[in-house]
Amino acid sequence: ALGDRHTTNDARSRRLVVVSNRLGNVRDLAQAGGLTAGILDALAERGGLWLGASEGHHGSAAGDEPLIHLERVGKIETAALTLPQQEYSLYYNGYANSTLWPLFHYRLDLVQHRSEFLHAYRQINARFAQALARLLSGNDDLIWVHDYHLIPLAAALRRLGLGNRIGFFLHIPFPPPDLFVATPDHAELIADLLQYDVLGFQTATDVTNFRRSARATGSTTFDAGGIAQSSGRTVLSRSFPIGIDVDAFARMANEAAEDVQIDSMRRQILGLKQIIGVDRLDYSKGLPGRMQAFARLLEKHPENERAVTYLQIASPTREEVAAYAEIRAQLEATAGSVNGKYADLTWTPIRYIHRTVPRSRLAGLLRASQVGLVTPLRDGMNLVAKEYIAAQDPADPGVLVLSRFAGAAEELAQSLIVNPYAVDEVADAIAKALAMPLEERIARHGALIERIRRNDAAQWRKSFLEALANMS
Ligand code: ADP
Ligand code: G6P
Repeated sequence: ALGDRHTTNDARSRRLVVVSNRLGNVRDLAQAGGLTAGILDALAERGGLWLGASEGHHGSAAGDEPLIHLERVGKIETAALTLPQQEYSLYYNGYANSTLWPLFHYRLDLVQHRSEFLHAYRQINARFAQALARLLSGNDDLIWVHDYHLIPLAAALRRLGLGNRIGFFLHIPFPPPDLFVATPDHAELIADLLQYDVLGFQTATDVTNFRRSARATGSTTFDAGGIAQSSGRTVLSRSFPIGIDVDAFARMANEAAEDVQIDSMRRQILGLKQIIGVDRLDYSKGLPGRMQAFARLLEKHPENERAVTYLQIASPTREEVAAYAEIRAQLEATAGSVNGKYADLTWTPIRYIHRTVPRSRLAGLLRASQVGLVTPLRDGMNLVAKEYIAAQDPADPGVLVLSRFAGAAEELAQSLIVNPYAVDEVADAIAKALAMPLEERIARHGALIERIRRNDAAQWRKSFLEALANMS
């Protein structure tokens, strides 16, 4: 067996090539969110290449030759791939976000099956493979593919004759087999996944769901170590829970913008509290139910009237997909009706903000909030839960109310775990959080911060890349 030192060196000496649909912003590291930040740090550390779809100017490369825009910033090289606009839309708005996203978030009611979605999905993946084949420097490059947009990429690369080690990390949940097999394309999706060498998932539940789904489609079995044999190759499937850079986020929260601090001091003097939610405006985040739970809190625990404000920051996302327009309308109606019922001249119970907020300000707002509400109906991990913990003042920390259906719940047992479908239960948890004594808040926060430090962003990428480099 290889010693630790040897394997670590080996993993580091090989060039890293990252592929994802969305290319991170290498020029503005301060704005990089969870996933982007984790990947950029890996590339900055060891150097390497990141391939992604070019933003804004799809449309000019319908032909066979890939159109790639290369840029270098420090040790990181980025490759932006121009893709035909209509095909891109059928792939991104279509198969990725109208078929796979709802399916993998257990929402069969929202899944759309259209053959042109699937066709475009495979075409775009083939274009990614062609581009990548030109960019690789040899068989030794370690390829790390991210997320549901690119499931067929390894298969497309193998068809081009590439023998590189290829890893895949799924950032979203993997559904249970009974749901998964409802998609007509399930057998192909499993076959595509089995073309990777390492399959990484967020949680133990996702790994189990994947293995059971793979077994349900037939030919594959897994040994005790989770290894499958597929067309003469060995495939490892395992969980690698993603994390954040805890210290960097804590520092950002500590250095919060002055206006956030002034606002927070004003509330402190008046004895007012703030509850916060921060999400993309996605139907998987459970936002209308969260607002209903807040309304229920005011009804069941009226001592909170005029004493608590709920700030919901929801960033615009995937607006060309109908289900997203619907959730937005629904959320605005819910916010309006709760405010209509409870607001008076001096107090607006829900402040709803439909925009993206700069990260440093976000960190400050999380720190200034006594309760963090993270109540998705289903979520791969949910990094906001970890960011909320990292942002707190350890001497006077706030309380995290967390959905049992977020991947993060597997690790963050010391938060107040709730069922987001049970409105009363969420309302009671918020009341408990608002009233929690300092001593208990400190104890829970101490355990949580230790946990997110153990599984942080650095640990996540290190363990994934070591597993990938060690596959023979
Ligand atoms: P998802 O990947 O489904 O959007 P996560 O919670 O895992 O959910 O990650 C979301 C990331 O985006 C976090 O880093 C969070 O801080 C950031 N984010 C979410 N909403 C906003 C917003 N309105 N403004 C700025 N950043 C946001
Ligand atoms: C989730 C997905 C990512 C995706 C992100 C933002 O985190 O797992 O793959 O990039 O949402 O969504 P968008 O559609 O804007 O890329």
